[in-house]
Amino acid sequence: MGTFPGFLYRQFTFKPKPLPKSLNLSGKTALVTGGNAGLGFEAAKELTSHGLARIILGVRSIAKGEEAKKTLLAMNPQIDVQVWAIDQESFESIKNFADQAASLDRLDIAILNAGVKSMEYVKSKTGHELNVQVNHLGTALLSLLILGPLKKTAAETGSPSRLTIVSSENHFWVKLKEIKGPDTLATMDKPETFGKGMDRYNATKLLNVLWMRELSSKISASDVIMDAVNPGFCQSTLHRTDSSGSSFANLIGWTSAQGGHCLTDAATQHAKDGHGAYVSEQTVKR
Ligand SMILES: NC(=O)c1ccc[n+]([C@@H]2O[C@H](COP(=O)([O-])OP(=O)(O)OC[C@H]3O[C@@H](n4cnc5c(N)ncnc54)[C@H](OP(=O)(O)O)[C@@H]3O)[C@@H](O)[C@H]2O)c1
Repeated sequence: MGTFPGFLYRQFTFKPKPLPKSLNLSGKTALVTGGNAGLGFEAAKELTSHGLARIILGVRSIAKGEEAKKTLLAMNPQIDVQVWAIDQESFESIKNFADQAASLDRLDIAILNAGVKSMEYVKSKTGHELNVQVNHLGTALLSLLILGPLKKTAAETGSPSRLTIVSSENHFWVKLKEIKGPDTLATMDKPETFGKGMDRYNATKLLNVLWMRELSSKISASDVIMDAVNPGFCQSTLHRTDSSGSSFANLIGWTSAQGGHCLTDAATQHAKDGHGAYVSEQTVKR
């Protein structure tokens, strides 16, 4: 895993599959952050076509979320589609979102997918570097805050809930030298540590995997099965500030729908060996 030739080989030879037709999610509630666009939206579409009772789209733009809701309802009018605001640049917004989640009667599946790829140093609203704030800190905080509702649902239904963090194969391509220093996050906030191109984005995808490993080691798989997923290199608006990345995605990228298949696979399959796992090409990997 993790070499560039290997990455190219997988992009050309692997074709992500949709969920098995037989999968029945009836009665369940799922939540997808960044559910209005790209892979998150495609994952939402797929989950709702398997009998889901309710889906929560976590979005930073309610207008975009409402557009996504219209499409989901046109496909499956019987589903309860809710659009909730979340800005992962704001700890307060994440906390408000989690408070709303705590009021649900059940939460079976959570896909923490919202993310950015900022190729230049940007200080976020919290003062942390933008990729670190949105991809790692925001996702990590939300994962902690929604454990309560996920565990409660598992206790009530007698089957584990699911928590999936969206990482990337790029996490292999980074030497996170900051991790050896005295204060990793404070160091990563300094513009001079930002690195080149996708270095920092890649580092946050490694933080996603490290966080998933640490948190999953503290949770029982009978309560919540937690994993991290590589959705493959896909065409989406993630590459909006990266013109060469965008052209490369047009050339060899999977579609957002195929990336979405990888998200839904990680969040609903691999119940036996998926806890604490990194799932890539819809398979649990080392
Ligand atoms: N595409 C790829 O090749 C690829 C490869 C590996 C991993 N991934 C990962 O897959 C995930 C989804 O990416 P994508 O390709 O679907 O990109 P995308 O189309 O740009 O979607 C990203 C989503 O995250 C939302 N978001 C961005 N900043 C946010 C914030 N501060 N608070 C809340 N939501 C925010 C976006 O909202 P707006 O629509 O309002 O911007 C959008 O809904 C990301 O975690 C990404 O790192 C993607």
